[in-house]
Amino acid sequence: MKYVIAIIQPDRLDDVLERLTQKEIHLVTVSNVMGRGRQKGIAEVYRSHKEAGSLLRKVKLEIAVNDAYVQPTIEAITAGARTGQIGDGKIFILDLKECIRLRTGETDGVAIG
Ligand SMILES: Nc1ncnc2c1ncn2[C@@H]1O[C@H](COP(=O)(O)OP(=O)(O)OP(=O)(O)O)[C@@H](O)[C@H]1O
Ligand SMILES: [Mg+2]
Repeated sequence: MKYVIAIIQPDRLDDVLERLTQKEIHLVTVSNVMGRGRQKGIAEVYRSHKEAGSLLRKVKLEIAVNDAYVQPTIEAITAGARTGQIGDGKIFILDLKECIRLRTGETDGVAIG
């Protein structure tokens, strides 16, 4: 299992969600966050709302998936979020050790999706 974290431009969220849905990836956590990349929040200000100091407004997606869904998840996020401009965002992929559905006590591969 993997835990996929993606930081994207807020205006790409709808497209990313639609592409995830097309690949049967429905379970997701979305947060409004602030961040800065290697331009330190300066050169990108024309496309991102400046939030505080050198930080820009971004959207974070978190998706826990079985191994078979890792590649489709990456493809959907990339297809929806890549414009080729600075600040498109990043995907981080972490090993996920456990997942528990609170309602049933189911675990791991069953609980995840
Ligand atoms: N190494 C990192 N650690 C934590 N968060 C990061 C890291 N890199 C990027 N981010 C987050 O992702 C957001 C978007 O990053 P961004 O796309 O600007 O990366 P970049 O490395 O500057 O690439 P680019 O040159 O394409 O802009 C940042 O505002 C920040 O929230
Ligand atoms: Mg950047």
